[in-house]
Amino acid sequence: MVKIANIELPDFPLLLAPMEDVSDPPFRAVCKKHGADLMYTEFISSEGLIRDAIKSRQKLDIFEEERPVGIQIFGGDEEALSLSAKICETVNPDLIDINFGCPVKKVVCKGAGAAILKDIDGMVRLTKACVNAVSKPVTVKTRLGWDESSKNIEEVAERLQDIGIAALSIHGRTRAQMYKGDADWTLIAKVKNNPRITIPIFGNGDIDSPQKALEYKNRYGVDGIMIGRAAIGHPFIFEEVKHYFATGEILAAPSIEQKVDVAIEHLTNSIKWKGEKLGILEMRRHYSNYLKGISHVKEIKNKIVSSLELQEILELLDVVKGMELA
Ligand SMILES: Cc1cc2nc3c(=O)[nH]c(=O)nc-3n(C[C@H](O)[C@H](O)[C@H](O)COP(=O)(O)O)c2cc1C
Repeated sequence: MVKIANIELPDFPLLLAPMEDVSDPPFRAVCKKHGADLMYTEFISSEGLIRDAIKSRQKLDIFEEERPVGIQIFGGDEEALSLSAKICETVNPDLIDINFGCPVKKVVCKGAGAAILKDIDGMVRLTKACVNAVSKPVTVKTRLGWDESSKNIEEVAERLQDIGIAALSIHGRTRAQMYKGDADWTLIAKVKNNPRITIPIFGNGDIDSPQKALEYKNRYGVDGIMIGRAAIGHPFIFEEVKHYFATGEILAAPSIEQKVDVAIEHLTNSIKWKGEKLGILEMRRHYSNYLKGISHVKEIKNKIVSSLELQEILELLDVVKGMELA
């Protein structure tokens, strides 16, 4: 068993990575169903939460059936970040996660996300303010460092543990790398193998198959792995990894019918959460991923993403079920 403070997770838990515009409640529900052990909201701007921005507030929606679930916040201002952690606490998540890893310019230029990797003292101050502000466990997700010459994750891990974070997820890239190159897990393993480190260390970056998950589990010795992009349009990844760990055998790939059924479930969740019109609109960005690899699907997909009629979309998806893999 892996414990984050008093949250009990199974051995070697599989985490769904926080992903903006992706890991919202409709998507999290399908990931949970297919085996995700711990999930996070999309990141939420602390400034937005404090200003009561509707977009930020909506991201606070969490549901009983998806527990354990963490709310992720970001921000570069101590007061705003700790206040937003308190706001998060009012909706009773299982934990609050701070993002110190986002490489995107609009976040970094405000001193938030990965920008703080250049200022460990600042990172420690921000984190401490949150840990002190709430009674829920506070966790952190970050990268190896700012760039190749400043990979400071080993120091970061020790100092954040010392001020009371309950777990650390590490994406094996620097900020400068953005998403380029391969994630390097060797430093993640070093953090995990540091005898001073007692909190769970979760590895993240490029896990896209059961074989790779097992290889990295064995090679790097982390407490669990966090999966992001490989789950988009393919929430089956969690059960595929678990099945492989348990049996050494690869689970048969989902049929087109199963993929489409999950897309329909995702759409249904989306409508339940946002209402029919918005639910349909927000689902549009997901079809390409669900329908990837299907032969000659483009034309019908274009019809699906331009329709606002639920019945029509369902009929089109039904037609896709009869199509073939490329
Ligand atoms: C579309 C997208 C949105 C993301 N949004 C967030 C976010 O809100 N918070 C965060 O900590 N990381 C975010 N990330 C980074 C992922 O959580 C993860 O660290 C990264 O994708 C590497 O993992 P992967 O190789 O399994 O995808 C995002 C990644 C993607 C692709």
